[in-house]
Order: sequence, then C-alpha cells, then structure tokens
Amino acid sequence: MATLLLPGCSGDLSALDPAGPAAQSIARLWWIMLFGSIVLFSLVIGLFFCTLYLPRFGRTLSPSGWIIFGGLVLPIPILVALLIYAFLEGNRLLPEYKSDDSAIRIEARARQWMWEFYYLDFPGTPSTVNILHIPAQRPIDITAISEDVIHSFWVPRLGGKVDAIPGHVTKIRLKADQSGSFGGVCAEFCGPGHTTMHFAVIAHDPNEYPVILGNTAEPQ
Ligand code: CUA
Repeated sequence: MATLLLPGCSGDLSALDPAGPAAQSIARLWWIMLFGSIVLFSLVIGLFFCTLYLPRFGRTLSPSGWIIFGGLVLPIPILVALLIYAFLEGNRLLPEYKSDDSAIRIEARARQWMWEFYYLDFPGTPSTVNILHIPAQRPIDITAISEDVIHSFWVPRLGGKVDAIPGHVTKIRLKADQSGSFGGVCAEFCGPGHTTMHFAVIAHDPNEYPVILGNTAEPQ
C-alpha cells in the first residue's frame, strides 16, 4: 500500500517498504499513528468550521467547557490507545521477548565512522567492514557496541533502530523475508563523518550462508 500511495517512500532506506516482520510491525505502527493523527486533526478542523459557519454551534458550552472537552476528552482516549499500542509493539521487537534458538548472533561494532560486523556463531570467520552478511528467513540478533561516541544501528527495511553506546550492550532482532540487499545507516549524529557511516546488509539464501561466510561449519 505504501508504495502505491507514496512512490517516493519506497527504496533501499524506506521504513515504509518493509522486508521483514520487525520492519513490517513498525510500518504498521506508522500507518496507525498516521490514521490516529488524521482522525484527531479532522475532528479539530471539523469543530473549527462548525463554529465558523453554524451560528449557534457550541454556544451552550462555556469556554472552559471547550478546553476540557476539546483539550482533554477529545485527544486523551486516542493518544492513550496509540501509546499503549506503540508500547506493546515496541516491546515485541526486542529479542528478550522472543525465545528462538535459531537466531544468528552478530556483533555490530561502531566507531567513527564505520561499522564492523563479527559473526559470533561462526568462529574463525573474519569480520566484515560496512557489509553485513545474514541468512534470509532466520532471526538475527544484533548486539550493538560502540568504541567511541554514541552511534545508532538502523536498517529501515528490516527493523527498528538501536543505539550503540560506549560501555553498554544493546540488542535488536532483525529478519529478512527474502534474499536481497538492504541499506543501513548510522541514525545518531556522531561527528563530521556521520553522513558517510552507511553499510549494506546482504541477505543470502539460508543454505548458502555458511559457504558465503567461507565457513561450512554449522552454527555453534
Ligand atoms: Cu555514527 Cu552517526
């Protein structure tokens, strides 16, 4: 639907063109938020035009009544519903909320201004810089670490963002439904090289993945 309505929003870095379940759920949340804001905006604008063009509209409500009704009663149920939905949806994206032993563990190390990826389940595999190889159709648990300042790991078509914070370990789970190449960026300003801190995620056929890594051993 996104690509039909908003052709400019498709592409390598489009969160509205999801290619995996986590990104799908974020895109769904985006559309629900958009719908909620359209409902609220239409209600407010509708009331505004009613007061302009219907002479007796709203005269029975006092000014403080308008504030209570328009400022509290009208938006609070919609905002609370959106907040609860966003909270539950956000929690579901965390690896801790899903037990899945088939997840592949990868460490993403950020430094000014590059990403280096370590394949924890494939010992002996050399790390890769600015290219992350993953198998398609398998959950990928990314552990983000920073060696200097705060960076943020983001592959818009596969999942949400997670900050890479010096001295902390943060996690996010991604999954690609199909093989393909997906763009990734650093999503936190981290110095003059921030805009160049791109990387690519290549999702391979799951059977070929160990071969691609140059290591035919099964995950440990
Ligand atoms: Cu690293 Cu922005």
